[in-house]
Amino acid sequence: MKIFIDSGNLQDIRSLVPLGIIDGITTNPSLLAKESGDPRQLLKEICTLVRGPVSAEVVATDTDGMVREGRELAAIDKHIVVKVPFGKEGLKACRTLTGEGHRVNVTLVFSPSQALLAAKVGASYVSPFVGRLDDISTSGMELVGQIVEIFQNYEFGTEVLVASTRHALHIVEAARMGADICTCPPAVIESLFKHPLTDIGLERFLKDWEKAQAARR
Ligand code: G3P
Repeated sequence: MKIFIDSGNLQDIRSLVPLGIIDGITTNPSLLAKESGDPRQLLKEICTLVRGPVSAEVVATDTDGMVREGRELAAIDKHIVVKVPFGKEGLKACRTLTGEGHRVNVTLVFSPSQALLAAKVGASYVSPFVGRLDDISTSGMELVGQIVEIFQNYEFGTEVLVASTRHALHIVEAARMGADICTCPPAVIESLFKHPLTDIGLERFLKDWEKAQAARR
């Protein structure tokens, strides 16, 4: 399963990419709004740091505007994937943009029927938001399971990009279900490394080694 960083923060991206586990980046207007400077310049810089797809979202709400903006975003760098919000306008824009050879990530997906429709118009990625569903007492991971099951029945070529992840269990469950990608905030990626028994185990190994060395002296 591929792991993307869900962030527009250069410092976070720079610190995680050298670990060798990062396959791409997703951004959204809220994430880019947190960063200073020109968002398009920032996206350009992000593309130089990662050898993989970088999702950049349109803010237009009508099809023509989304297509126009999508073309501009795609022109920033070959790694850019145009992100459009789910809806009739978004799906029409997705169809046009994919017809022109651009990759599109359909975002704000909260039901299996929405994912199916996005796949039908040629989306490269669909982004179910698991954390936001959990927030309203609905299982986000159940939705991921349903989408994976539907996509296994056909040959859409659309990847399931699990978004709005909040903790390591989301990532583990997504991998068990066979989701293609999880995009995670930097703190969630950091948490994937941690286990108290690893730390305790290493401390004990080093102590035992040190004791044996001291006895030999
Ligand atoms: O990038 C879209 C998604 O991952 C947003 O997550 O935490 O704002 O629900 P969140």
